[in-house]
Amino acid sequence: MDNIVIAREAAAREAIKYLRDKYVVGVGTGSTAMAFLRELHKLIISDSIEEILLVPTSTETEIEIIKLGLAHLLRYPWQVNHVDVAIDGADEVDRRKNLIKGGGAALTREKIIDYWAREFIVIVDETKVFPSIPSKHPIPIEVIPFAWSIIKARLEELGGTAELRFGSGKRGPIVTDNGNYIIDYMPKAVMNPDDMERIIKEIPGVVEVGIFSGKRISKVIIGRIDGSVTTM
Ligand code: 5RP
Repeated sequence: MDNIVIAREAAAREAIKYLRDKYVVGVGTGSTAMAFLRELHKLIISDSIEEILLVPTSTETEIEIIKLGLAHLLRYPWQVNHVDVAIDGADEVDRRKNLIKGGGAALTREKIIDYWAREFIVIVDETKVFPSIPSKHPIPIEVIPFAWSIIKARLEELGGTAELRFGSGKRGPIVTDNGNYIIDYMPKAVMNPDDMERIIKEIPGVVEVGIFSGKRISKVIIGRIDGSVTTM
């Protein structure tokens, strides 16, 4: 098995320990969140955990829940009055638990559910840990399509590069679950993530920013390629 897969699955298994019977669980997006969903599926079919409800953070995750035969557990935000715990992946995490998210273009629904949850647990493999963010991955920003070129120019004025995200085959810009576009922004200078998030969010037409503040995160579980885990 691929080393990264081992690390990802180790983090996903560890996250299962934070679930309880009758929990409403926010299910993140991406390959690590899907490793968690598969682990959760095993527990549900073995009856080790009961009366769990699942609130997806994207259409992609919703489809995976249905494909696993768990449609009866699927709930939308208006069908529950809280989320007990959200388990989600990330593209980058720094030592203060600040995250870059949105590699899968699902950042807005992820932030809505992850921040609403009473506990927000992040699962990553060890390659996602960096001294500061953004390091390797640009900051995904969901924008109203009408405003994309203006926002791109405003971001470039702040310093750095900003690119409209295209789908594979470059047939057109990626469209999010909310009907918007994504701009990937790599700033020139490292800045405090909370300040960076605030400055970007003030640009008219920005829907959401893929910086998730460490202050909102209960725990980060880091899976290692030897199959062990550490938490912060
Ligand atoms: C999707 C996300 C994902 O959580 C992030 O991209 C990590 O994905 P993966 O676990 O596949 O590396 O933010 O919008």
